[in-house]
Amino acid sequence: MMNSKHWLNYYQENKHNRPEPKWNSPSSLDPAIQQILARSLSHFQLGETGGGTFLIDHACKKEASDEAYLEALQFFIAEEGEHARLLERLVLRFGGATIRHHWTHALFRLVRHTLGFQFEIQVLVIAEFVGTAYYRLLRVRTRDPVLDETCALLLRDEAQHVEFHAQWLGKILSRLLPLEVSAWRTQFQALFSAAAMVAWSDHREALMASGSNRPEFFREARQECIRFLHQVQANANQQIASLVTA
Ligand SMILES: [Fe+2]
Ligand SMILES: [Fe+2]
Repeated sequence: MMNSKHWLNYYQENKHNRPEPKWNSPSSLDPAIQQILARSLSHFQLGETGGGTFLIDHACKKEASDEAYLEALQFFIAEEGEHARLLERLVLRFGGATIRHHWTHALFRLVRHTLGFQFEIQVLVIAEFVGTAYYRLLRVRTRDPVLDETCALLLRDEAQHVEFHAQWLGKILSRLLPLEVSAWRTQFQALFSAAAMVAWSDHREALMASGSNRPEFFREARQECIRFLHQVQANANQQIASLVTA
């Protein structure tokens, strides 16, 4: 069930207790690897920026009655903005520069904005799977204390973002016929597969330079997607059960 108040509280609380990575501690990473990481991280940095005015506009139309949800959504957007700040620091640490345009970002925005709020949430959550796989692998494979601290923060937040969206989508799915649910699941998985492929082609160099590989990346991302689909279904079932007993 969508418990918007819970999420609003969560986001408010989560603004505190955020250990700032020790940006100035030295890195023992090879400069060539730092350069590759900086480039790849700058693409994620761009992905984490981008206001959210579109999202809020759409949400206000679709969820006008749920003020707590709208407010939680604002906090969610702000948290992604905080991720952009952290990633910018990382990019600079590794001697790179942030970017303002990239074709993957343009594609991401285009897809996000085309089909309305529900679709936009879908695209965002798929980006969370990809980001989670990426941050997790970088964290495991790279020996850099600041990268480790930053990824730990990002991963902690992203896990909750996925759950936040899983609850909202669970509510939506609880109103669909089984046939519509399976159509939704099909298109979701197709979109995920395409996004994972784009992400891999964009970040393979960085992932491979840090000692990871393609199967590992897809395993992580797919696991996130599979877990999420189960969670959405469980949330939908809970919502249906609560309507039956009400
Ligand atoms: Fe993020
Ligand atoms: Fe996120």
